[in-house]
Amino acid sequence: MSSAVESVLVEKRVFQPFKALVEQANISGMDAYRALCDEAEKSPDEFWSRLARENLLWDKPFSTVLDESDAPFYKWFSDGELNVSANCLDKHLDTPTADKTAIIFESDDGKVTKITYRELHARVCEFANGIKSLGYKAGERAIIYLPMSIEAVVAMQACARLGIVHSVVFGGFSARSLNDRIVDVGATLVITADEQLRGGRAIPLKPAVDEAFGMGGCDAIRHVIVYRRTGGTIDWTEGRDLWMHDLCQGQPTTCEAVPVNAEHPLFILYTSGSTGKPKGVQHASAGFLLWALLTTKWTFDAKDTDVYWCTADVGWVTGHTYITYGPLAAGLTQIVFEGVPTYPDAGRFWEMIQRHKVTVFYTAPTAIRSLTKAAETNADVHPRRYDLSSLRIIGSVGEPINPEAWMWYYTNVGGERCPVLDTWWQTETGGHMIAPLPGATPLKPGSCTLPLPGIVAGVVDEAGKDVEPGKGGFLAIKRPWPGMIRTVWGDPERFKSSYFPPELKGYYLAGDSAQRDTDGYFWIMGRVDDVLNVSGHRLGTMEVESALVSHPLVAEAAVVGRPDSTTGEAVVAFVVLKRDLPQGEEAVEIAKQLRDWVAHEIGPIAKPRDIRFGENLPKTRSGKIMRRLLRVVAKGEEVTQDVSTLENPAILNQLSQSV
Ligand code: WTA
Repeated sequence: MSSAVESVLVEKRVFQPFKALVEQANISGMDAYRALCDEAEKSPDEFWSRLARENLLWDKPFSTVLDESDAPFYKWFSDGELNVSANCLDKHLDTPTADKTAIIFESDDGKVTKITYRELHARVCEFANGIKSLGYKAGERAIIYLPMSIEAVVAMQACARLGIVHSVVFGGFSARSLNDRIVDVGATLVITADEQLRGGRAIPLKPAVDEAFGMGGCDAIRHVIVYRRTGGTIDWTEGRDLWMHDLCQGQPTTCEAVPVNAEHPLFILYTSGSTGKPKGVQHASAGFLLWALLTTKWTFDAKDTDVYWCTADVGWVTGHTYITYGPLAAGLTQIVFEGVPTYPDAGRFWEMIQRHKVTVFYTAPTAIRSLTKAAETNADVHPRRYDLSSLRIIGSVGEPINPEAWMWYYTNVGGERCPVLDTWWQTETGGHMIAPLPGATPLKPGSCTLPLPGIVAGVVDEAGKDVEPGKGGFLAIKRPWPGMIRTVWGDPERFKSSYFPPELKGYYLAGDSAQRDTDGYFWIMGRVDDVLNVSGHRLGTMEVESALVSHPLVAEAAVVGRPDSTTGEAVVAFVVLKRDLPQGEEAVEIAKQLRDWVAHEIGPIAKPRDIRFGENLPKTRSGKIMRRLLRVVAKGEEVTQDVSTLENPAILNQLSQSV
């Protein structure tokens, strides 16, 4: 950890907040930031209680704020009741926001559809009434497997309106992953589309649902509701499958928003951990919504006049918090984009910012790095070719943004007028945790800066003791916060052991390594566990290994990440076959088969970039695979460590050959 740590601290540039932003910011200046932090520190209960009362509409007010009696299963506002969808839509109906554009949808092929808050409310109500007419009740779980669309937002909001717990599965995941999630979450309803369109290509969705059903364990599903996106040919099971438009036809445009307990699960979102299958991160209704709304207001400095665009997919947490919930609760006009940044060319983002006059833009470092490369080789798609003067804030999420990418983004996209907000958070945290405030925080390229008000973060050692500035350690959150994960669905023990290890004094362990500098700024170094970050997507090495070993040809597999200048990390798989070592063309052919297999088992994002075949894997005499060495080999570096404890040191040589 330490060498990476030192190299980061070479960065000395500091960018003060722009005066124009400070003057009209929701949190204006460092004194205002510190005042909020102090308020939270002095009396956390009063702080959170005030914010929850001021920001949310309650059907039944709460009297307790934080209930720690069953820690780490914390409860927030737990005797209060509200409805999340009412807080995102109904609350605007009697205000000027009602007739403001809620969503500007742009399809893959550039068609634009706008919908106001009033219209969105009506659409959500129609769909909720349709779902209700089928007999679904609060507490049941619905899988949502939809492309980026107004319909995806409508589906999530309709579930929230009825207290149905949604579990969105990213459209890039395969039938196998879908099946795992349907079974684990115990879903009774699936909402999908016939196909999705990305980069000019139609990709089937409903067929993957049918395939997932064929894998078994899906008998509890009573209906599959299908949004017709492309009109592509699909199979149909009478009685089970329904078109979304048929279901909504003639439904009333109002639907009572079911008040639920503050702790009622709003959604379960699967994410990768270091062991086994992805875990279902469960979020609660009130606490999640509060944190989504507050961070939208604070970090993005939300303004009524903003045209906000978060480029994430609703299949990831960023799309939950910063598309479906936060911006709607804040009454923003936002863009929902179906396509990809490189279609029809790598100028698509910049051209869209120019055309829609986007003011707040939020994307991932992997997109920035790949668009940088494209701009450097093709001047036509360079951001300087576009008028990006509408932008006032630009943000980044999902992985560390290196100072070079930060500076490029700042200079070429932000025109040296917009703060770059490097936001650190996770599926589990519900919203931003460590992030700059545009009208307050001085920025340092490569640092996510300081914890938001109410968040007590630290860098600690194995015993939970704070490490000195400039020293690496584990990133920990020391006090509970409303937006935090409540449990791992169906596996409370895994929740405790993954996030609240006993030696860490009850701190939440993020799974990232970090360090603080002498100004208290946080610098995130990366994961400390076996979780990879490929293009901002979390991927467990174990998941990819299990996929590989389920292939009939594979005896054993070990997966590690290697640094990649575009995707952050790339998957490298070391594979022992049940047959003799393949050579030449044959090795290439088997490697291709294995890549396709992984795409089929998990999704294309998990495809190994490199596959290395060996007769064995480097193991200690007790049979443990030495991943540390495999990481060195994956990078193409010479192994300089002591390998005397290895059972079979010669194997390293064999594994360093790429197919
Ligand atoms: C990484 C995405 C550095 C980190 C919201 C974390 C980051 C994991 C940043 C969570 C950032 C996210 N700087 N690393 N600004 N943001 N990460 O659950 O390793 O998909 O633990 O949530 O992404 O990924 P997840």
